[in-house]
Amino acid sequence: MKQLLDLLSEESSAAFERAGFDASLGRVGISNRPDLCEYQCNGAMAGAKKYGKKPIDIANAVAEELKGTEVFSSVEAVMPGFLNLNVKEEYLADYIRGMAGAERFGVEAPEKPLKIVIDYGGANVAKPLHVGHLRPAIIGESIKRIARYAGHEVVGDVHLGDWGMPMGQVITEMQERYPNLNYFDETYTGEYPEQPFFTIADLEEIYPTASGKCKSDEDYKKKCLKATLELQQGRRGYRALWRQILDVSKVDLKRNYGNLGVEFELWMGESDADPLIADMIRDMTDKGQAYVSEGALVVDIREESDKKELPPCIVRKSDGSYNYQTTDIATILFREREIKPDLIIYITDKRQELHFTQVFRAAKKCGIARETTALEFLGNGTINGADGHPFKTRDGGVPRLEFMLKEIEDKMYERLRENEESRGEEAMPEEEARQTAKITALAALKYGDLSNQIAKDYIYDVERFTASEGDTGPYLLYTMARIKSILRKYRESGKDADAAEFPVPEGRLQKAICQDLALFGRMVDEAFRERAPHKVCAYLYQMANDLNSFYHETKILAETDEKKQAGYIALIRTVLAVMEACIGILGFEAPEHM
Ligand code: ARG
Repeated sequence: MKQLLDLLSEESSAAFERAGFDASLGRVGISNRPDLCEYQCNGAMAGAKKYGKKPIDIANAVAEELKGTEVFSSVEAVMPGFLNLNVKEEYLADYIRGMAGAERFGVEAPEKPLKIVIDYGGANVAKPLHVGHLRPAIIGESIKRIARYAGHEVVGDVHLGDWGMPMGQVITEMQERYPNLNYFDETYTGEYPEQPFFTIADLEEIYPTASGKCKSDEDYKKKCLKATLELQQGRRGYRALWRQILDVSKVDLKRNYGNLGVEFELWMGESDADPLIADMIRDMTDKGQAYVSEGALVVDIREESDKKELPPCIVRKSDGSYNYQTTDIATILFREREIKPDLIIYITDKRQELHFTQVFRAAKKCGIARETTALEFLGNGTINGADGHPFKTRDGGVPRLEFMLKEIEDKMYERLRENEESRGEEAMPEEEARQTAKITALAALKYGDLSNQIAKDYIYDVERFTASEGDTGPYLLYTMARIKSILRKYRESGKDADAAEFPVPEGRLQKAICQDLALFGRMVDEAFRERAPHKVCAYLYQMANDLNSFYHETKILAETDEKKQAGYIALIRTVLAVMEACIGILGFEAPEHM
């Protein structure tokens, strides 16, 4: 379906043409003076020079041409040459009826959908998800859903950290503790046990222990580096043990991502690119793209336009092992071979920007990424505590995602019970209350995050995120629950809420809601093109505010004029459906009651 602003622009462009001016001047945008008009066109200002006329004369001539249009209810040329436009209520209603009857509210797939890989998990094997993994997961999931809604073909890849030093550290620590196990016996040629001898809880203790020891004990660190190298080079016992570490860890990660409403189509890791690395490195060396510098193999990625000197990309360390850069470049090779994407979007902390600049440049320079493959890094800002520094637990540790989620859930539960009491309502059964708290907590957390621009830092504030008033997830969900409750009561009175026809809006409040609805397609388009989930949030917030203003001034269920009432019902039903679509692309849900 064509977007509303395009239709309005067509109408205005035709008028420019009839008046003897270039049609391209007719572009209509949303008014930046909503107190004066709904839409505006500034083409007369741009045309003044070209035609050697005063802008107001052009605007007047166009306004004359727009008289009697089916689209605008008022057209006004104002000094120094703006066209102030209002749209006809009937036209708006027709447009929304069209939207409501169309798939995805009229958002059409582009002629050539893009094939997109979104790399957004970044979890590391043997390490629990923590606060640092929260934003990439939430943002990535939302961008994936937005891109899909906009009609593109998208897969999400968790890209597990499963091939670096942490693996060597865990293996080393296990070897220190249980040196007699078969995994560590290099002469052993038999099978290894099917069941791992450790649990996720063991891993969660082993990794930090090993990593701590590395900091104070040089010999131990050397052992870890050696184990990492031997693992990468294929030492049989290490590979078998590593496979089990991976399996145990994945179960836990899947559960945790699941609790966040985050799902990956691909559960690949750094290690999956390993089989490609040897040939890739040989190729780079043969072509002279990589060379030895201080014992390491590097690719020079400097470009003339660089303002400061960028360090080379290290593709093999001096001890012969591969690093984060190697696996990321090889993963691009893998994706080019297996998926052939038009675009790969990476979402991680913005402090990784240099890494990605190096990787992207090396991949392009060495012909690993095709020229047509766009590589894009979206660096997210930090989650800060009230002190403005990265958010920490009370004892200064790195907060685990599970516990953050639990805290917010408990808070939502508390609020729910308080609300029931203050409204004098019957208490929800315990299980339902817990379930509701879970759903609303996720909305509070995700909305609290996504309503910020991706690159900006924000303050993690459970009180604010869970508040039922203001620009928060719970506020939206309350609005939706309110609509659901009205629709339920309407149905209970024996009427058919789905049969009600979308009304021609009456009055300012209804019209505002209609304007919001009609701009849905434009919002989706912008949110995708600008990779901006916060635009979905802003859209939702505006919609909820407009809906609530209308609700407070209108007696919907008490309305005695049935036709009028049916119109109200259709209006709020459509708002609910569009809000559902929006929270769907943000990656959360709404409960029935709140
Ligand atoms: N595992 C990495 C980390 O914890 C993030 C991975 C991001 N994706 C990538 N392709 N490098 O920092």
